[in-house]
Amino acid sequence: MEPLQSMNGIASRAPVLAVAVREVTKSFGTGDSRTVALKGATFDAREGELHLVVGPSGCGKTTLLSVIAGTLGWDCGDIDVLGTSLSTLSKGKTTAFRGKNIGFIFQQFNLIPTLSCVENVSVPMLLNGAKRSEAEKRAARLLVEVGLEDKLQQRPTQLSGGQQQRVAIARALIHEPRLLICDEPTSALDSTTGHQIMDLLAAVARVPGRCVIIVTHDPRIYGYADRITEMEDGRVNRVLAGETLRSIHHGPNSLT
Ligand SMILES: Nc1ncnc2c1ncn2[C@@H]1O[C@H](COP(=O)(O)OP(=O)(O)OP(=O)(O)O)[C@@H](O)[C@H]1O
Ligand SMILES: [Mg+2]
Repeated sequence: MEPLQSMNGIASRAPVLAVAVREVTKSFGTGDSRTVALKGATFDAREGELHLVVGPSGCGKTTLLSVIAGTLGWDCGDIDVLGTSLSTLSKGKTTAFRGKNIGFIFQQFNLIPTLSCVENVSVPMLLNGAKRSEAEKRAARLLVEVGLEDKLQQRPTQLSGGQQQRVAIARALIHEPRLLICDEPTSALDSTTGHQIMDLLAAVARVPGRCVIIVTHDPRIYGYADRITEMEDGRVNRVLAGETLRSIHHGPNSLT
C-alpha cells in the first residue's frame, strides 16, 4: 500500500518513482587517464513527469542516462528502474528489460539510412519478436500521429532535421515504453520544430505510468519541465520544482 500525503485536508498519493539512482559512482579508464564521471550521484524521476537533467558539458549527464538505461555498467551504488533493481539483472535480462520498458531518443537521431521511415520505426518491435506486418502497421500509425503521413516510405536522408527527430520519437515509442530517455532531443532543431517535439514528449509524459527524462543544454525547453535536476561535476547539485522552478523559468512557452 502506497503512503498517502494529506495537504489542506485532501489526501493524495505520494509520487511513484520511475527511476531511483542512489549514490552511484562511475569511472572510465585507469591510472592517469582515469575520469570519474559520476561521483555518488543520487537522482529520482517520478511516474507522470517530464524531468529535465541539465548541467555543464562533461558533468556526467549522458553517463547518468546510460547507467539508467542499463547500456553502461557502474562501480558503486544502486539503480532502480520501474521497480526493478538493475544490479539484480544479468546482462541478457538487462537487455530484455530495456527492450520492453525503455525508449531512447538521441541528439543525432541514429536512424538507419538504408531503411524507410516505416522500417526504421518498426525496428524495436521486430527486436522484441513482433511480426513484420504488425510492426509496420503500428509504425505507420505512429508516423501519422507525429505528422509524417506523407513520409512513410521515404528514407531519413530525404527528411529535414525536425522530421528525422519525429521519426526517432516514433521509433522510441513503438513498443510503448514506460520510460522514455532523451539525450538533447531539441538542440539541433529550430524553435518551431523544437516546440513540436517538446509538445509530443510532454504528451507522452502525461500518459499514466509513464516518465520522460530529457538531458538538455537548451534553456528554451525549461518551461516544459515538471522538475529539473541540475548536475555539476558528477553529482546532483539541486532539484528545482514547483514555485522555485516557475520563478526561474516562466511557463511552457519559453522556447521562443
Ligand atoms: N567512454 C568514455 N571513456 C572515457 N571517458 C568518458 C567516456 N564517456 C564519458 N567520459 C568522460 O566522463 C565525463 C562525463 O561525460 P558525459 O558524456 O556523461 O558528460 P555530459 O554531461 O553528457 O557532457 P555533454 O553535455 O558535453 O554531452 C567526461 O569527462 C567525459 O570525458
Ligand atoms: Mg552528453
